[in-house]
Parts: sequence; C-alpha cells; structure tokens
Amino acid sequence: MNAPSPPSPALVQRVAALVADARRILCVTGAGVSAESGLPTYRGVGGIYDGENTGDGMTIEEALSGPVFRRRPEITWRYLLEIERACRGAVPNAAHEVLARWSNCTRPPAEVWVLTQNVDGLHSAAGSQNLIEIHGDLHRLRCTSCPWRARVQNYEQLSALPCCVDCGALLRPEVVLFEEMLPESPTQQLQAQLTLGFDLVFSIGTSSQFPYIVQPVVMAKHQGLPTVEINPHETTISSLVDLRLACSAGATLRAIDQALSEEG
Ligand code: OAD
Repeated sequence: MNAPSPPSPALVQRVAALVADARRILCVTGAGVSAESGLPTYRGVGGIYDGENTGDGMTIEEALSGPVFRRRPEITWRYLLEIERACRGAVPNAAHEVLARWSNCTRPPAEVWVLTQNVDGLHSAAGSQNLIEIHGDLHRLRCTSCPWRARVQNYEQLSALPCCVDCGALLRPEVVLFEEMLPESPTQQLQAQLTLGFDLVFSIGTSSQFPYIVQPVVMAKHQGLPTVEINPHETTISSLVDLRLACSAGATLRAIDQALSEEG
C-alpha cells in the first residue's frame, strides 16, 4: 500500500485555527493512532480481524468475547497473549506525543480530552492527561474471583492460562471483551465530559464502529460545532465531518502542532 500523502498546508492551517480558538477539545482515537508505533490495526489492510476463522473454528471476535472467555478461557487468552505480544516494546509516536502535549498545556487550547478505544497504554505512556480508556488497558490484570489486581509491564512471565497468586482463580486483563458491558467509571467520566460539552471534536485513526465513538461527532454536528477526521481511509463518519485530512495521524498532528506554535 502507498504511504498516505502529507496533509495539505491550507487544511492544516484551518484546523490549527480551530484548535487555537477552542476552549474544550475532544480527540476520539483508535488503532490507527498506534499504527505508526508498529501496532496492527483491527480492520483493513494488515488488520487482526481479517474475516478468517481462527484455528479454533470461530472468528477472532468470538474468540475475544465474554461468552467464550467464560466457556473456553484458554482460547481467549491465546489471542490476548498474541495481541499483547504485538504491542510489546512499542513506544508512543508523534500522534500520542502531540495529544499528550496539548492535554498538558493550559493554552492554546484550554482543555483537551482523549477518548481512546486502544488498550495498548500508549496515550498514557506519552503522558496524556484527561484520558478516558473506554476499552481498558491490557497491562492491568485482575482476578475473576478475588480482589487481586496488578499492573504488568508485559505478558512475558504469564502462562497460557494465568491464575491468581492469592486464590488460584483465573486472571483476566481489564479490557472490554466482545458482548461485555463498557466499564462503569470511564463511561461515567465520558458522559460527564459530554455533558460539560466540547467545542471541537477530532476523530483520529478509528473506523468508528461503535455508537459511543460516533456519538460525540454526531452531537457536535447537531450543535453546529466543528468536527475533524484524520484517517487515510474513509470511515462511517467521513461524510459527517466538516474537515477531513486523509493522512496518517502522526504526520498530521505534528503539522497542526507546528502551525499552532508558529501562530504563537
Ligand atoms: P480499526 O482497526 O477498526 O480501524 C483503524 C483505523 O485506523 C482505520 O480506519 C484505518 O484507516 C486507520 N488508520 C490506519 N493507519 C493509520 C494512520 N497511520 N493514521 C491514522 N489512521 C490510520 O480500529 P478501531 O477503530 O480502533 O475493540 O477499532 C475499534 C475497536 O474494535 C477496538 O478498540 C477493538 C476492536 O474490536 C475491542 O476490542 C472491544
């Protein structure tokens, strides 16, 4: 596949002006933000979900679902271990760094929130404040039976079916599996922030499959507020947004950040 073309300077200037004027910005991110850190996306070229059945006679979405985890945890853990292995050693790229810088500075823009579906922990590693990890983080493990919880650097030391050191029950990562509810705390945090409102919404590197990921863009649109998509490929929200930069997240955010700092 050809590398995405660089962002148009005129579009970059327009987006930088929106960022400079905004008081509260929401950046919704997905797997595409981590692509330049070498992580595979879920869908599309080179994606993990290639439509094929796994060797276990089910799709990977089924293998990574709550019901299969309860029935056949060894299958779910096999794919969790694979996903973690794909993330191992990855470091934040320019996209994570720019969003972290924006979320840490007081002006401009005033307040930046990141709503991410990624479980790789790279926004947090880059130092993003105001971070909502709506699908959790692979690096946080918990026991399915007792209060044991721990943060792990990677899964290198884990067995194929990891068990709790305290009670021997099965462990799981604090991530949302298919057919499971979203975690309560980040969901409430997101609703609280949406109620406070945003005056600029970005959608970056996500195919926007889920209603709670599309909702902030739709809300902004209904309120007549600007929306921006950064994604080399068209998505479910491409026809909705005001400005579309069909480019990679890192190069585009770096260019917007540069234009912002030149504006002073
Ligand atoms: P997807 O794999 O569905 O989409 C990744 C998006 O990133 C695609 O639209 C690509 O075009 C885009 N992309 C690829 N490279 C890019 C780059 N360098 N810069 C910008 N964009 C790029 O991933 P998500 O939308 O994150 O959920 O998927 C959402 C959820 O589906 C995941 O969190 C996961 C999965 O099932 C759960 O596991 C619950």
